[in-house]
Amino acid sequence: MLTLLAFGALAAVASAANSWIVPGAAWMSTSNTKIDAHGGMVLKRGDTFYWVGQAASHSVQPYMYTSKNLLDWTPCTNPQNPIQWLWRPKLAKPNGSFWIYGQVDRNVQALKSSSISDNYAVAGSKVTLPPNAYTYSDTGMFADDDGTWYLLTSADHNNVQINKINSDGSIGTRVNVLAKGAYEAPGMFKVGGIYYLIVSGKTGWRSNPNQMFWTDKLAGGSWNGPYPIAPEAQKTYNSQNTFELTVVGSKKTTYVYMGDSWDSKGGPDSNYVWLPMSVDTGTKKVTLDYHAQWKLNAETGEVVLPSRKRRYEAEHAVVEGRGVVGRCERCLNRRGVHAADPSAQVTFHNIIGLGGPQWVQFHYHVANRTSGEAHISVNDAPAVNISAMNHRAGYHHVVPVLLDLKSGGENRIVFGVSGEAGVVLEGIEVVED
Ligand SMILES: *[C@@H]1O[C@H](CO)[C@@H](O)[C@H](O)[C@H]1NC(C)=O
Ligand SMILES: *[C@@H]1O[C@H](CO)[C@@H](O)[C@H](O)[C@H]1NC(C)=O
Ligand SMILES: *[C@@H]1O[C@H](CO)[C@@H](O)[C@H](O)[C@H]1NC(C)=O
Repeated sequence: MLTLLAFGALAAVASAANSWIVPGAAWMSTSNTKIDAHGGMVLKRGDTFYWVGQAASHSVQPYMYTSKNLLDWTPCTNPQNPIQWLWRPKLAKPNGSFWIYGQVDRNVQALKSSSISDNYAVAGSKVTLPPNAYTYSDTGMFADDDGTWYLLTSADHNNVQINKINSDGSIGTRVNVLAKGAYEAPGMFKVGGIYYLIVSGKTGWRSNPNQMFWTDKLAGGSWNGPYPIAPEAQKTYNSQNTFELTVVGSKKTTYVYMGDSWDSKGGPDSNYVWLPMSVDTGTKKVTLDYHAQWKLNAETGEVVLPSRKRRYEAEHAVVEGRGVVGRCERCLNRRGVHAADPSAQVTFHNIIGLGGPQWVQFHYHVANRTSGEAHISVNDAPAVNISAMNHRAGYHHVVPVLLDLKSGGENRIVFGVSGEAGVVLEGIEVVED
């Protein structure tokens, strides 16, 4: 059986611990539901991380999940959702209460609770932004070292505006504004006294190259930028910023970019792109460090990559139809299988599995994404398009998907293409840790 998201519906799978953060892949909760918390943020309290976001499949209500390792997320049972159509919810604690701020009808709506993860009630009515009564679209959140909370918004007239949150939870004075173009989806983090603001361009649900601006003074400081955070053509690895998470570990502080990999309409098929960031405090350069599959040791703060992988070359597999082994400059050993049309099929026999859900990385290139894509089938299960399991399919040359493998060396994985995409398959790597 294939254990994945096929055509938007969940296949029945035994729930397994999530061993990796996989940008673009469907991310399952510990209840084996797809995590539905888009445009959100993560707040750490004690040793627990709380992830709040808008639930695309439940009328854009705030949904919350908790985790201790940033991998396994448990849905909070008691809903945080006394309200619908609250976009991009963000969490703050400006006084003894917990607050969620989000956008309703382009105004700020606050929710309040005495507990971080349940019993939120609507707090007051919707408000516009001081001082100009601006309405806005996207919401961001930043807590400074002195405990002051700031609401970040993409306000009217192409202002990305930063307002203090008062201790009674109301939206206070505007302390700064970025007026350097059409930007939205703001998020901010601070390293060595410098405030780094990440914003996206305004292109609806389609991704664009997100940008960074920095200032050394939050209140009234001028902004330097824009600076790229990823190669322009990557369009922020097909994502849009929502929040920057700082994880202070015993050995290292790691800054995590949290982005949304939206489907074409911000719906339930949207996924997430989380990546660690490199921050060069000298040149003040912020770079997303792309990893197809990674995790963070929440205790030490260190980034961990897969270390045990079993590799199978495509040219040693069984190649049928209009598939030919040929040169491949980008491939590790300069050879790959060129799959010319849908008759081409590559079958990997005797794949060793550990028994249960396992990440398998497909290494392949697609010449023309709009004219087709790749699909796979495991142990005779129906073929599934790789893009249904991981949005990075066709965009990156390493695409991990979670497959259900039998224990032992009897697994068979068939790789095929639809359309005339022009696919070159290098091979697969089965991750064992
Ligand atoms: C936080 O402020 C709100 C609004 O003034 C108030 O209702 C609430 O009681 C405060 N929370 C605490 C714990 O002081
Ligand atoms: C990619 O495929 C589409 C659809 O088949 C076609 O219209 C387009 O011209 C192709 N692009 C390139 C660069 O070949
Ligand atoms: C898989 O992708 C191909 C090419 O984009 C498409 O024609 C086909 O409908 C997809 N299959 C499913 C089951 O979605």
